[in-house]
Amino acid sequence: MFRIVVFASGRGSNLKSVYNSIADGKIKADIFAVVSNKKDCGAIDFAKRKNINTYFVSNINKIGSVSYTELINIFESEQIDLIVLAGFLKKIPEYFIQQFEFKIINIHPALLPFFGGKGMYGINVHKAVFSSCMKISGATVHFVDNIFDNGLIIAQQCIDISDVKSPEEIAEKVLKVEHKILPDVVKKFAESKIKLDNDRVFLLE
Ligand code: GRF
Repeated sequence: MFRIVVFASGRGSNLKSVYNSIADGKIKADIFAVVSNKKDCGAIDFAKRKNINTYFVSNINKIGSVSYTELINIFESEQIDLIVLAGFLKKIPEYFIQQFEFKIINIHPALLPFFGGKGMYGINVHKAVFSSCMKISGATVHFVDNIFDNGLIIAQQCIDISDVKSPEEIAEKVLKVEHKILPDVVKKFAESKIKLDNDRVFLLE
């Protein structure tokens, strides 16, 4: 079985969308664990309710936490196939990213390479999009490298925002797209239908 770990720091709606696609049988996979830098958050609560393993990760040895090195050992021995960042707000150390090259993906609530980078998370992204007066926004799933929101783009979908009145309205519209493209991409990974060629990512039929 294809094995996934989800990293999240917030309400966990993207975690839920992947979980539901698995539960519905659309994705043949198993969520081995949810990792968070917060002990209390929606994602962790959801994981606990669904009896998914949870890990609290910290760089500074907080009580009850695991380190990134420990996570590497666990993920290697559990043969984890894919790590999904779904609203994980801490920078992940370079050695961890290198260990799982092309096995870590992130969902970003805008059309990269615009409106990404340090500080561009949550409502900040949608505020920036709103004040840019752009008529479209959307969501991006991309590989994770050592620079925020910089890795190769795997999938994107755009939406019309020409009639929105607030950043919150953009957030709401984009979230619906996120809940579609993230499970779609995870499914492609689980079916080995992701191909890299010449620094481009192709999703095979
Ligand atoms: C999403 O908008 C995602 O794109 C971003 O963080 C948010 C997480 O939302 N990276 P949720 O916790 O999955 O509801």
